Amino acid sequence: MIDLGEYGPRFRRDPHPVYAELRERGPVHWVRTPPPDAYEGWLIVGYEEARAALADPRLSKDSTKKGFVTAEEGVMGRHVLIVDPPEHTRLRSLVARSFTMRRVEALRPRVQEVTDALLDEMLPKGRADLVEALAYPLPITVICELLGVPDIDRVTFRALSNEIVTPTSANAEFAAARQLAEYLDELIEDKRCTAPADDLLSDLLRTRAEDGDRLSAAELRAMAFILLVAGHETTVNLITNGVYALLTHPDQLAALRADMTLLDGAVEEMLRFEGPVETATYRYAAEPLEIAGTAIAEGDPVMIGLDAAGRDAARYPDPHTFDVHRAPQGHLAFGHGIHYCLGAPLARLEARTALRTLLDRCPDLALDGPPGPWLPGMLMRGVRSLPVRW
Ligand code: HEM
Repeated sequence: MIDLGEYGPRFRRDPHPVYAELRERGPVHWVRTPPPDAYEGWLIVGYEEARAALADPRLSKDSTKKGFVTAEEGVMGRHVLIVDPPEHTRLRSLVARSFTMRRVEALRPRVQEVTDALLDEMLPKGRADLVEALAYPLPITVICELLGVPDIDRVTFRALSNEIVTPTSANAEFAAARQLAEYLDELIEDKRCTAPADDLLSDLLRTRAEDGDRLSAAELRAMAFILLVAGHETTVNLITNGVYALLTHPDQLAALRADMTLLDGAVEEMLRFEGPVETATYRYAAEPLEIAGTAIAEGDPVMIGLDAAGRDAARYPDPHTFDVHRAPQGHLAFGHGIHYCLGAPLARLEARTALRTLLDRCPDLALDGPPGPWLPGMLMRGVRSLPVRW
């Protein structure tokens, strides 16, 4: 058993040397995660094994099959990310009817407008925390407008959502989930009673499959929850980690500035190099299986290291080098298989818009001190603050 807690705070600051050390020994290890969680389970750190595991139907996301209900599910209900087929197929196809490429494409001008407004406010100041000024407010504004969440108290929402994604304690996570569930119930009830609007939640309320199937009230709440939370916690870190990578690799920043047609590929490289989701959400072995010669017993938890996979030299030569020309194929930052990120087109649109506009309008952007602490836990990879000046 490898106790990741023994690596101390340096594992949070930079887990990649530890993942590289583990990968040298093999692609899959039984680990204990750092405190306060200290969960035990299998951790996959090799690219090929991670990709195969993400698409392996023997690895279940449904903890009720293992005999327990998570706090999140107990309060919020079942959503796409915590169920298996056929339930997953049904929920995903219902949301896919409404959350289409066309809907994302229609947001393009609005994403630019919100970015411009945030930078208008930020630029006269000469220095800022990039998380507060741009990386956080852009995705939260966009996801709230997309879903039709007009008057949400963003400060409260941020605290609740942070607590659920990177919990400080099980009790606090439970209380946050309950408060958010109440808020969403009221919001959905309001939408049910008012004139139909063009937002995604209103659309999901009306959506029916050909056979008349539709989301129940509990399913709609759970869907709103996962879209709201997944829709902003991650994109914040893509923008922040991406800017941090550029500012700490001046040659790469210069190469990108010299040829902005590299931008789309550079965003993919940011996803590979320091993707916002460090480890995919928990899976459980629904039956005994083998991964790269290691026996996984029925019921064992399995964590898939997405950021670790992005640094596997067997897939990406010279993996610890951040290279905006690399345009990496097949990175796993958005997952793979049936749970592949539903919001990937929106996340890409937001990150590309934010980075292009920021670099355009701040020709002399630079770091203004060290970044804030890295997020706790092994789910999310990102910093709490990123001081910049221009
Ligand atoms: C850079 C930003 C993002 C990253 C890195 C990211 C990453 C991921 C990953 C890795 C998964 C699969 C997790 C697993 O298999 O355990 C996932 C699933 C999901 N993501 Fe994202 N995501 C991002 C943005 C978004 C946005 C903007 C939305 C919504 C608007 C979204 C909604 C979802 C949903 C609903 C799922 C579950 C899909 C399913 O289970 O079928 N994500 N995301």
